[in-house]
Amino acid sequence: MTVRSKLMVGNWKMHGGLADNASLLSEVLNGLEGVNCRAAVCVPAPYLAQVQTLLAGSAVSLGAQDVSAHEAGAYTGEVSATMLRDFSVRYCIVGHSERRQYHGESNDLVATKAQRALAAGITPIVCVGESLAEREAGHTESVVKRQLAAVIHTIGHCVSEIVVAYEPVWAIGTGWTATPEQAQSVHAVLRAQLKAATAHSDRVSILYGGSMNAANAADLLAQPDVDGGLIGSAALKSFEFLTMLKAASC
Ligand code: 13P
Repeated sequence: MTVRSKLMVGNWKMHGGLADNASLLSEVLNGLEGVNCRAAVCVPAPYLAQVQTLLAGSAVSLGAQDVSAHEAGAYTGEVSATMLRDFSVRYCIVGHSERRQYHGESNDLVATKAQRALAAGITPIVCVGESLAEREAGHTESVVKRQLAAVIHTIGHCVSEIVVAYEPVWAIGTGWTATPEQAQSVHAVLRAQLKAATAHSDRVSILYGGSMNAANAADLLAQPDVDGGLIGSAALKSFEFLTMLKAASC
């Protein structure tokens, strides 16, 4: 039996604005009655200070969407893990498929980013997932295992301190969600890989992401190895996000 409470994380991606953030979060924070899962929002870097203030004292944690692989230095435009820590960032997404696809992030770079986050006391949410072509070619398992293996290789036994998010690329922003069975079968592969890497694999939450919404969250969350969700567009609507937080609460 697992003791992990569900973790529901909103990934705002490149959405938001000062006024919209304030109204979304005020609606979310006012609707938390009956919610007892863990919750976080990963916001664009310019809004970290604003959202830190808005979430202060609440049950919702602050997250970032990326972190530099470097500690400090001449890296124009990058944000270091220690800078994120200055804003009480608790979680940081690393290796989202949009970063892998549009910014050429390799498995090794993602692993270094996870290491930087951990060193600053921030929990990396390591994203893995296959493209449609890879799934159709029967390579899903080997792709996600290779992505996670790079992180395990780099951070060793600290892997028990990370969160993993399985996000099939073909399900992101498409409305085409993995079935609960498809998600569970990949999550079970990842769980076994974690188990082989650390005696404390039970601490690792494995989230599902990809067109998760208020209508399909409960069925996905009912799977034994689905420990929560990484939610894109549905996390931008307070009612929908709250409905999913409630589905994840026991
Ligand atoms: P959608 O929920 O919009 O499909 O996005 C999923 C995602 O990429 C979360 O990181």
